[in-house]
Amino acid sequence: AQVPVITLDGPGGAGKGTLAGKLSTWLGWSLLDSGALYRLVGLGALRENLSVDIDDDIQRAADQARALDVRFIAGDDGQRIELAGENVTQTIRQDEIAKAASRWATIPAVREALLARQRTFAAAPGLIADGRDMGTMIFPEADLKIFVTASAEERARRRHEQLSAQGEPASLSRIYREIVDRDTRDASRKASPLKPADDAYVIDTTGDSVTASARKVRDLVVAKG
Ligand code: C5P
Repeated sequence: AQVPVITLDGPGGAGKGTLAGKLSTWLGWSLLDSGALYRLVGLGALRENLSVDIDDDIQRAADQARALDVRFIAGDDGQRIELAGENVTQTIRQDEIAKAASRWATIPAVREALLARQRTFAAAPGLIADGRDMGTMIFPEADLKIFVTASAEERARRRHEQLSAQGEPASLSRIYREIVDRDTRDASRKASPLKPADDAYVIDTTGDSVTASARKVRDLVVAKG
């Protein structure tokens, strides 16, 4: 049989990353943070000033995506991400990088370039795959598909709290706008748009604590055996 896969898809800030990390620790399975791959493409493109409107630049971004020299190093508080030996864990969490990632993620050549690599993460004893199209495109045969969502207001509030805790002032209304922009771009693109797989279980975490959401996910996993 194939390696078991659980997919967690959903919009930004719904808490997928946290839940995927908890699930991977709990089950002892490996983790694919596919959003990080798109963020790395966005980072590379920003650094090289590439434009999604220029064919040569698209080609260059796709080549970079295919050749990404990335390492995910498991640690106590999540994964450290290295790009060609540089620790970019914090850098790629910036909202500017999220925006660049979602722009480049609309480009089919970039998605195609990341496809095979994402599938190589499936290794025994199992994989937790976190992203937008894990259940619809990358692992359509997954054993359990979960779509994690929360209202845009709540996701903006969470991001705002997170930034405040980091001592970075930001306006809640601007964060909200950026979240809605990114959702719209992710859900309306032609290439692998953000949407629940037909056979996905939808979990709405609006109003839930992390513990409460984690329990919902865990209950699903237990119920599916
Ligand atoms: O999940 P995260 O916020 O890190 O993803 C950043 C961006 O990468 C998303 O807004 C989306 O545009 C893109 N992405 C994607 N497909 C995935 C994961 C992320 O298009 N599987």
